[in-house]
Amino acid sequence: MTASQGVALLGSTGSIGTSTLRVLERHRDRFHPVALTANGNVTALATQVAAWSPSYVGVVSGTPPAGSGWRAGVECLIEAATHPDAQIVLNAVVGAAGLQATLAALAAGKRVALANKETLVVAGPVVMAAATAGHGTLVPVDSEHSAILQCLAGRNPGDIRRLVITASGGPFRTWPAERIAHATVADALNHPTWRMGSKITIDSATLANKALEVIEAHYLFGVPYDRIDVVVHPQSIVHSFVEFTDGSVLAQLGVPSMELPILYALTHPERLPDSGVPRFDPITAGSLAFEPVRHDAFPALGLGIAAGRTGGAAPAVFNAANEEAVAAFLAGRLTFGQVAERIADALEDLAGRPGSTLEELLDADAAARHHVQSRLSC
Ligand SMILES: NC(=O)c1ccc[n+]([C@@H]2O[C@H](COP(=O)([O-])OP(=O)(O)OC[C@H]3O[C@@H](n4cnc5c(N)ncnc54)[C@H](OP(=O)(O)O)[C@@H]3O)[C@@H](O)[C@H]2O)c1
Repeated sequence: MTASQGVALLGSTGSIGTSTLRVLERHRDRFHPVALTANGNVTALATQVAAWSPSYVGVVSGTPPAGSGWRAGVECLIEAATHPDAQIVLNAVVGAAGLQATLAALAAGKRVALANKETLVVAGPVVMAAATAGHGTLVPVDSEHSAILQCLAGRNPGDIRRLVITASGGPFRTWPAERIAHATVADALNHPTWRMGSKITIDSATLANKALEVIEAHYLFGVPYDRIDVVVHPQSIVHSFVEFTDGSVLAQLGVPSMELPILYALTHPERLPDSGVPRFDPITAGSLAFEPVRHDAFPALGLGIAAGRTGGAAPAVFNAANEEAVAAFLAGRLTFGQVAERIADALEDLAGRPGSTLEELLDADAAARHHVQSRLSC
């Protein structure tokens, strides 16, 4: 019998965090959480701690309950990520705030099940180098990248011709561009196929999320940008395709649930019986449609891919400007259309900054945040 593996779950109170705990609940014989962290949601974290009794608990910006023994402050992410009893670190923090924990976990030789795609967007080359140096491994949680990993398992990387990442198209897939520009927060949070945290839901409405995923795929699978395409697939059943050099195309399919990619990130390349995810039925799924991306209506996608191609500090600038613009949109301080405009402005002014070391990338991140924030009206 396989020994139970310890999991450090960063961002346990979020959408991926709670889905992960549901997965762990079904596989208590295989996995147990040794560390849980949240940002400030102390109430939800306390409920999880009561259910799981992890040996380490941390809150980044909240106040721990009196006498709880929880750790507080930003360093708790690194402490959890390097916990000696954790073989796996599932990073479900949202945004660039998750980067340092990924780096620390890889340096400590852990398996990192990565939902925090921003990690690879901000500092892809630094992260891949940390994995090599520390003998850590990166396994994606994103359903698209999990699909690609599953299609590639056991195959020769030299046989890949093209990756095709699917996108649901978000809530504005069929809206005219003029209407999208003035979409409300409630419109943008109304995703047709996925229930997720608010930041990634807005990213899915602007398609910035797909740009983050193209950059993530570039680093994870070592495929150049001109061989990564995006196609709109409104049903979110085909999670992505891999085309091989002989013209054969493989896809991975399943119901839109994050529980399966989370479980696969914990067990890859093994598969466990009884994932608990509703089974796929082609008859129920019905017709599957594929459409080109409307780049004119969703400029954030092209901006992000161009930033990826530019490399250096540009992806970090794209990510940080996007994080700040999305926060401002959610707070009613920018219109939906202004999100992509502010990203474009930040890239124009800052994409050429130096970006080969972690320090330079963090400086670029800070400069892009300041760029967006300083242009917000009060
Ligand atoms: N949701 C999905 O289906 C999905 C799918 C694929 C990839 N992802 C990726 O997974 C990551 C998490 O997404 P999500 O939808 O789960 O987000 P979410 O629901 O907003 O949850 C984010 C989690 O991170 C914590 N957190 C927020 N800011 C933090 C900070 N500055 N420092 C430390 N912890 C912080 C939150 O704690 P509090 O609760 O205390 O605020 C929460 O536990 C994102 O990178 C997203 O792109 C998500």
